[in-house]
Amino acid sequence: MSDKKQSQAVNAAWGGRFSEQTDAFVEAFTASVAFDQRMYRQDIAGSRAHAKMLQKIGILSEEDLSAILGGLAQIEEEIAEGRFEWSVAREDVHMNIEARLTELVGDAGKRLHTGRSRNDQVATDIRLYLREQMDFIRAEIVRLQQGILDVAEREAESIMPGFTHLQVAQPVTFGHHLMAWFEMLKRDASRFADCQARMNLSPLGAAALAGTSYPIDREFTARELGFDAPTENSLDSVSDRDFAIEFCAASAILLTHMSRMSEELVIWSSAQFNFIELPDRFCTGSSIMPQKKNPDVPELVRGKTGRVNGHLISLLTLMKSQPLAYNKDNQEDKEPLFDTVDTVLGCLRAFADMVPAIICRHENMLNAAKQGFATATDLADYLVRKNLPFRDAHEVVGSAVALGVKEGRDLSELSLEELQQFSDKIEADVFDVLSLQGSVASRNHIGGTAPEQVRQAIARARESLQV
Ligand code: ARG
Repeated sequence: MSDKKQSQAVNAAWGGRFSEQTDAFVEAFTASVAFDQRMYRQDIAGSRAHAKMLQKIGILSEEDLSAILGGLAQIEEEIAEGRFEWSVAREDVHMNIEARLTELVGDAGKRLHTGRSRNDQVATDIRLYLREQMDFIRAEIVRLQQGILDVAEREAESIMPGFTHLQVAQPVTFGHHLMAWFEMLKRDASRFADCQARMNLSPLGAAALAGTSYPIDREFTARELGFDAPTENSLDSVSDRDFAIEFCAASAILLTHMSRMSEELVIWSSAQFNFIELPDRFCTGSSIMPQKKNPDVPELVRGKTGRVNGHLISLLTLMKSQPLAYNKDNQEDKEPLFDTVDTVLGCLRAFADMVPAIICRHENMLNAAKQGFATATDLADYLVRKNLPFRDAHEVVGSAVALGVKEGRDLSELSLEELQQFSDKIEADVFDVLSLQGSVASRNHIGGTAPEQVRQAIARARESLQV
């Protein structure tokens, strides 16, 4: 074997300057094909665009281009049908596909890599992949939001205690509470949309780091791949993973929101609260305690938040202090990223299926709201309307509550005479404000818990989802 032939046997893609085989363990250790093969469609799309561009500028002949396009189509089919033989020796998705292309179409396949590098190739692939996944994520967020709106509409008048410090604070409607969830998700969806808009630039053409000496047309490949424009700086193009960090940050915030919703579902479905019931199909039992019905779905979503937050920290740490431009470290971006995508989609799917099926125990919610002197603020506001300064009103109500606590009765259950001992401004009309319905109905301004406002908020929300 000539020297040249021997080196080709080392690795067809880069073996020229090597004199011995890669260590078998190192080959497996450095390979990414096991996980980056999920980007095969994006890799093929990038190659198609690149090949068309090379033909357009006269570097590839028409015959070569059609051979490449035909080969890529066949490869895409082989992979989709599970017939493609992935090889660890070919390291990653890019070299697996390129090597197979050369097997299929010969020299034309070898010409495809003109004027590009795996560095700009992988940067392009990840962007294409994430851009698409964020479409799916945003669609699932909308599906969950729609479910929330349906339940909120149904429960626009259902009274429950609103909490601060997990102590009964003031009555709210369940619909109002759910609309708080809606708002959290609305911001989450817009964070993903912002991330998509910012990342939609094409790194293709940055090549290894400095660009290429061929007269490439980056505008053309950017357009072909649905990017808004080419990226501005070749070094930045191959080293930037901000978009992945941003995606993970948006995901971490989303999951943090979902963990809060989960926690509420867990608490509300406990025997002590018993505000809601989750249908059996979203729960599991215990192998030892026959009476148990556990809220596994929200518990698991709460738990998965830790893993998604962890991925964000992984990526931040991965990029911290990395010198420009590309470093092999970057291969480590994929597993956290992919697992974030899978986890977020899984959690959203479970929630979007489960939330519309929540069963409300209205009596229990109402009784709980009656127990914590939830209308104490309403009594204070009543006294203020009768010209007592707020601080004095606060004092009067505090004394009335103390009596209620001693007697084990709500403010609305004290007699007029009992209430009047604390202030002569209290009259028979006080019972209107001490009722839970009166209390929620009085909070009738934008953002307030009055059923009328909740319905208006739902109508605005439905409209916002149309666009
Ligand atoms: N598998 C590599 C990655 O995921 C592709 C880029 C490799 N580039 C290189 N020069 N080794 O980052």
